[in-house]
This record gives sequence, C-alpha cells and structure tokens, in this order.
Amino acid sequence: MNRISVNIFLSIFLTFVIWQIYVYHSIIEQLCGEIKERLKLNMKQLHVTLLYESLCPDSRNFMHQLGPVYEEFQDYIDILLVPFGKSQSERNGAIFHCQHGPAECKGNRLQSCVINSTGNQAAQVKFVVCQMLAPDYSRIDECANETGLLTDVVHCLSSETGTKLQLQAELVTKQYSPSFIPTIVYNGVFDQQLQDHSLRDFRGTVCYLLRQQNLLPSSSTICQ
Ligand SMILES: *[C@@H]1O[C@H](CO)[C@@H](O)[C@H](O)[C@H]1NC(C)=O
Ligand SMILES: *[C@@H]1O[C@H](CO)[C@@H](O)[C@H](O)[C@H]1NC(C)=O
Repeated sequence: MNRISVNIFLSIFLTFVIWQIYVYHSIIEQLCGEIKERLKLNMKQLHVTLLYESLCPDSRNFMHQLGPVYEEFQDYIDILLVPFGKSQSERNGAIFHCQHGPAECKGNRLQSCVINSTGNQAAQVKFVVCQMLAPDYSRIDECANETGLLTDVVHCLSSETGTKLQLQAELVTKQYSPSFIPTIVYNGVFDQQLQDHSLRDFRGTVCYLLRQQNLLPSSSTICQ
C-alpha cells in the first residue's frame, strides 16, 4: 500500500470509530433516560393526613414530632394538614362551633387560609408548627414571615374563602369520624394501631410504613 491509500484507510477507520462511539453514546443516553423515567414513576410517597385543631393540647404536643420528622422525611411524605378536629358547622358555615371555643374556630380558619396560600408543603408544615407552638396568636405574622408566607390572610379570614376552606376541612375530617384529636391517617385509611404508635413515635411509624410499602430506595440509610 502506498502512503495515500494508508491515509485514506486510516481516515475511514477513524470516522467509523467515531461514528460507533456516537451511536453507543446515544443508546446509553436513551437507556439512562428510560431508567430515570421508571424511577420517577416508582417515586411513590407515603400519604399522611393530619386531623388536628388549633387549641388542642394533644395537637400541640404532636407538633413537636411533626416538625423534625417532616423535615427529615419530606421527600418521602405527602402531607395534608386539616385544621378542624371536633368542630361543627351550622347553616352551611354561617356559624362554626369549636371544641375549645371561638378562639379555636378563629385559629382553625386562619390556618386553613395560610395553608391554602401555598402549595409548598414544607412551608405549610413550618407555619403550622410555628403557630401551634406559639404561646398565643400574636405570633401569626411572625410565623408567616418566617416561612415566607406573606399573604392576605386577613382578607381570607373574614371572607367566604375562609368559610369555604373550613367547610372543606370539615368534609375531610368527617370521612374519618375521628374519636381522638389529633388523628393521623396513612394512605387514606385509619388504623387504630398506627394511630397509637404515631402519637408515641411518629418517626418510627413513618419508617415502619416506608419500609413495609417499599417506598425507600435500597441505597437509603434514612431509617437505619
Ligand atoms: C386553595 O383552595 C382553593 C379552593 O378550594 C383551591 O382551588 C386551590 O387550589 C387552593 N390553593 C392551594 C395552593 O392549595
Ligand atoms: C414581616 O416581614 C415584613 C417584610 O420583611 C416586615 O415589614 C414586617 O414587619 C414583618 N412582620 C412581622 C410581624 O415580623
């Protein structure tokens, strides 16, 4: 072979190698994309519904667990906060009666308004925990500020929106006819044993359920 044909051969060979690398690269990229999609579909979360009321000492107590546990497990938990408890509406929300009196009705309504002002669950939980552990309602603005929820809560409180949100909270609460407040419901089904465990050890209960339902990636060490 002369020099020219060697060069031509080498050029063709190199082009072929580069083209092969490109083809393999696209195949691998496509595979990775598919794997990622499948992982996303499998990223199911544990659904937690918390039925509580604003002035209830047991609800307040539970907030000491909710705050840190939610912070640690927020990727694995989908939470619905329902501030209503043992309240009762009358005449389609013209009046509400609350277990701990009118101040509690106001607190529940306020929390409904703030919770509804954001889809960010971490912010909702932060606000509710801050508010529930505050000695009185003077810290409403502070709690809202701390969590970045600067919303027109005053308007919501005195408007139809506040009433509508509390009627919705009543509907959700009545689905479970709670005998104790707070009630913690997992995946939409009340279970007395899980309820009792949750009050004692919310973190342990969450870990138990995440493991039981295979909601933790095998590489996760969060519950160890
Ligand atoms: C607030 O409540 C309204 C009425 O129920 C609902 O349509 C809206 O999606 C809620 N917004 C958030 C952020 O939850
Ligand atoms: C909340 O934050 C705003 C803006 O940062 C500030 O003007 C206001 O005084 C704060 N309110 C409270 C109660 O901290």
